[in-house]
Amino acid sequence: MVITYLIVLLLASFSIGYEAVQPIPERVPYDREKAEIGKLLYHDPILAKDRRTSCAYCHDLYQKCGTDHRPIAKGFGDRKGKVNTPTVYNVRFNFRFFWDGRAKTLREQILEPIRGFSEMNITQEEIEERLNKHDYYKKLFKKVYGTDRITFDMVVDAIVEFEKALITPNSRFDRYLRGEEVLSEKEKEGYKLFKKLGCISCHNGINLGGNSFQKIGLVKPYPWHPSNPDRYRITGREFDKNVYRVPPLRNIDCTHPYFHDGSVKTLENAVQLMAYYNLGFMLEEEELELLVAFLKTLRGELPEILKGEGER
Ligand code: HEC
Ligand code: HEC
Repeated sequence: MVITYLIVLLLASFSIGYEAVQPIPERVPYDREKAEIGKLLYHDPILAKDRRTSCAYCHDLYQKCGTDHRPIAKGFGDRKGKVNTPTVYNVRFNFRFFWDGRAKTLREQILEPIRGFSEMNITQEEIEERLNKHDYYKKLFKKVYGTDRITFDMVVDAIVEFEKALITPNSRFDRYLRGEEVLSEKEKEGYKLFKKLGCISCHNGINLGGNSFQKIGLVKPYPWHPSNPDRYRITGREFDKNVYRVPPLRNIDCTHPYFHDGSVKTLENAVQLMAYYNLGFMLEEEELELLVAFLKTLRGELPEILKGEGER
């Protein structure tokens, strides 16, 4: 008994100083020269069969916080995808990629949109052929990769370096965590509530998500359909039905619409549904307001590599 009590006390004293959310570092390591090539490729429809769809077509970095604001993505030849487009901002902090977490690395992730029927629909050989006819890219790759022939591998490598640079530091919340900014009472109460209600048990770490697989419908059952892009599709295990990689909440006021199927238009609704399905109750009007006020403090700055080129 006494020992258990002491252990509880010990754990409690550890957790007092422990913050479940960490600020985005102001600087992160990446290769700037490669990332600059990646930035060009990311915005260039040369990587799509119809020369129309670039990565930026679905992941708009300036106006849409790295998303497309469509419920379901649309790409090559206006073909509709299956799920809502997640943001590319701060992806380097996620432990897996895609709603179902099927990609373990950013390199692995990129192959899908490039080859994807409803995304860019192109082969590795076509990309190499196009780029090797392009004098400007040839010059750039020669300078950075020291080669006369551009390979698909280098293309992927450059885009991944660019993705690594896509962080949004210095949000008001991060500045608050570092003691550089004061939040309003509402915003602070919102963060307290976020912890108290248990949102934090799934949405934590640097990205307030992106670091574990969890269920939607933990307390109240959420409708399940075989076409859901959930973990079940990968593992076939019953308990993986309606389990997703937890979506990160950075810049969340600007990555609407919400949920894997883009079915939820407003942040207020997304938060209310979360409380209902995963905590088992509806929030009071005031609680909802506080939580949303807190979530809005998570909007960060443009990354260094995009600065001075327009507003997000
Ligand atoms: C047609 C729209 C479209 C295009 C074009 C597109 N994407 Fe995506 N992207 C998506 C969708 C939809 C998903 C989620 C797919 C899923 O979860 O099954 C996604 C997921 C991602 C993710 C994973 C994010 C995360 O945290 O899980 C990254 C990174 C990404 N895309 C980068 C890129 C890059 C780089 C390109 C260009 C080579 C690109 N995308 C082209 C729509 C698009
Ligand atoms: C048991 C884990 C868990 C808890 C607790 C939880 N969430 Fe979630 N949250 C998830 C999962 C999983 C999703 C993805 C659901 C989907 O797309 O179908 C999600 C989605 C969201 C989204 C939409 C994100 C997007 O990009 O579409 C928001 C906003 C959100 N949660 C906020 C909250 C808030 C606020 C709370 C507390 C009231 C909370 N969550 C509690 C696991 C959790």
